[in-house]
Amino acid sequence: MEKKSSRYSVPSDEDYEPDSNDEVLKNNLAIKFKGDMEALEEQELERAELELVKIFSDSHQFTVEDICNIHELWLGDIYPFAGRYRAVNMAKGDFLFAQSGRIADLMTKLEKDFLAKYTPCSNVNTEELSYALGVVHVELILIHPFREGNGRTARLLADLMAMQANRGSLNYSLIDQTMNEEGFKNYILAIHAGLMGDYKPIVRIFQMLLEESAI
Ligand SMILES: Nc1ncnc2c1ncn2[C@@H]1O[C@H](COP(=O)(O)OP(=O)(O)O)[C@@H](O)[C@H]1O
Ligand SMILES: [Mg+2]
Repeated sequence: MEKKSSRYSVPSDEDYEPDSNDEVLKNNLAIKFKGDMEALEEQELERAELELVKIFSDSHQFTVEDICNIHELWLGDIYPFAGRYRAVNMAKGDFLFAQSGRIADLMTKLEKDFLAKYTPCSNVNTEELSYALGVVHVELILIHPFREGNGRTARLLADLMAMQANRGSLNYSLIDQTMNEEGFKNYILAIHAGLMGDYKPIVRIFQMLLEESAI
């Protein structure tokens, strides 16, 4: 049986934190308020990014294990599912992400077809960097390997890849849902285009983000 939640359509027996109004996923800290959880996730994200920049060298070729480790380093104190693939199917609006049973295989393919080809990003020009960031991002988002935090994990990875090309972390305000509604809509359309194998829109978005971001 499915029920509509405000964020995703998920099986109705899924574990939310009791008394959280189905707004906060079960977590290690028994946090019940959405605002508290959002603030903690944000704080942990900043800590994780500072730690991660010290871990990966410019010549590192990223793997799916790295992606799981990035997710775990960020959310490991908060959620039991940190670093682990989701076991439920998920959709956002009408858009279905990969079926949970296919995630492991699709991640292996992501490593072989994209991470191994387009990382490390040292010694690439801006055009090549936009392409690498765009294709890796869209393919990872389409798989949506984790129960929560896929967008921010994909952006963390993009930052780490950009740093290999001697860029700073990217400024994502142009595609921020609250700060720039139009930009966000175009970004989502670019994800949908990626499902059809059309990478041009997402690559153009990363080109624009790189232009907006500090060198
Ligand atoms: N309607 C949609 N169609 C396709 N992808 C979407 C849609 N809405 C959001 N997304 C993607 O899903 C991400 C959010 O996934 P989520 O796991 O909640 O990550 P986070 O919690 O870090 O935002 C967005 O950043 C975007 O990449
Ligand atoms: Mg989310």
